[in-house]
This record gives sequence, structure tokens and C-alpha cells, in this order.
Amino acid sequence: MFLKRCYSTSSKNWLSRQAKDPYCKAAKANQYRARSAFKLIQINDKYRIIRQNDVIIDCGAAPGGWTQVAAEKVSEKGLVIGVDLLPIDPIPNALLIQGNFLKASTQRSIYEKMDKRKANLVCSDMAPSFTGNHLADHARSMELCESALAFAEKVLKPGGTFVAKFLMGGTEVEFRRKLQILFTKVKTEKPDASRKQSTEGFFVALGYKVSKEKHM
Ligand SMILES: C[S@@+](CC[C@H](N)C(=O)[O-])C[C@H]1O[C@@H](n2cnc3c(N)ncnc32)[C@H](O)[C@@H]1O
Repeated sequence: MFLKRCYSTSSKNWLSRQAKDPYCKAAKANQYRARSAFKLIQINDKYRIIRQNDVIIDCGAAPGGWTQVAAEKVSEKGLVIGVDLLPIDPIPNALLIQGNFLKASTQRSIYEKMDKRKANLVCSDMAPSFTGNHLADHARSMELCESALAFAEKVLKPGGTFVAKFLMGGTEVEFRRKLQILFTKVKTEKPDASRKQSTEGFFVALGYKVSKEKHM
């Protein structure tokens, strides 16, 4: 009776899905804070985008799965900065910022923490809070992608990498075209850890071509 009152059918479905999900189990076993850690692991296994001394900016980092993966792969000479609207519990070898990535002040804080170093990788797993209106959610997801890319253009090293999650909906095609101008290779990925029923996809853009220097 109590359980019935506490959990709606959809949250019960969610709990049973989580209990069966191999990535949830693996995240727990490997002490990752989120199953999404495996999305970055799988993208990295395919493209080798994270190296020892890298400077990595992780946008939309809470609760910290991607930041954990990045921080354990870079050495102490590397630098990982995770940023999110939500607070993130400390992660060894990572600097964390709470703030809205869409705000110039948040991007400036990231830039200051980079301490004049350029980034090897800017990645974004940012997702808007869902409204239930797919087109509106898609538009907000693309706004987050655009913002991450505009920031990446200012901080990436030549040859650097950009990874961004997007919600499918149509306009990602234009965003992909923009990536194709700025990077030598652009791939669209749906890692195995990304749930089949979700409309998310990931752009992996390799080999940043600096055309015109952009500054913070
Ligand atoms: C799917 S979660 C990220 C999970 C994370 N990659 C991990 O492995 O733990 C998406 C995150 O994007 C964040 N987010 C959405 N909009 C944001 C914004 N404007 N600025 C910063 N973070 C944002 C949300 O707060 C949320 O924590």
C-alpha cells in the first residue's frame, strides 16, 4: 500500500529498468556516479580522444560520470574542468564549477581555471530539463550544442576534439554542417550505453581547424 502510494507506475517501471540495466550495474561496480560514464568510455574506445596530458572541459557534468572517466585518464599534468547547473561532489584530479554554461560569467570562470592553456577536448553531455514537447526539447538541446561549440572555438587547440550530445529533431543537420566546416572529420554516434528508445545522439568532431582566432 505504502509502496503503491510512493511510486507511480512510470517510476516503478524506471526502477525495474534500472535494476536490470547492465550499465547501471557496471556503473555501481566501477564506482561511476552515472551509467552515462560508459557513453564517454565507448566513444573514447572508438576514437581515442582522451590522452594523458590533456586539458578537458566537460559541460553538463553532474553528477560526474564523464568527469570521473576523463580525470582518471589524464595524468596530474592534465586538467579536467567539469561544469554544471547542479553542484557536483569533489572528484580527484578535477576542478568543478557550478553555473549556467549559457552565461558568459560561467564560461569566463572556466577560461580562468584553464590558466592560459588550450583545450584538447570540449565535451558536452548537457541536456535541457524535458518539457514533454519534443520539438521544444530538441530546440533547447541544440541551443546547448551551439553554446558549447562557440566556447570550443575560443579554447580548443588546433587538432582538438569536440563531442556534443543532441536530441534528434531535424536541425542537428545544420549543426553538423557547421561542424564539418570547423573540423576535419565529423561522426554521429549512438554508443551502446545510450538507450535505444532515447532520441539522443552524439557528434564527435575531430581535428579542429583554427580558421580565425576567436577569443574569450
Ligand atoms: C545527462 S546529465 C549529464 C551526466 C554527466 N555527463 C555524467 O556522466 O554524470 C545532463 C546535465 O546537463 C546539465 N545542464 C543542462 N543545462 C545546463 C546549462 N545551461 N549549464 C550547465 N549545465 C547544464 C544538467 O544540469 C544535467 O546535470
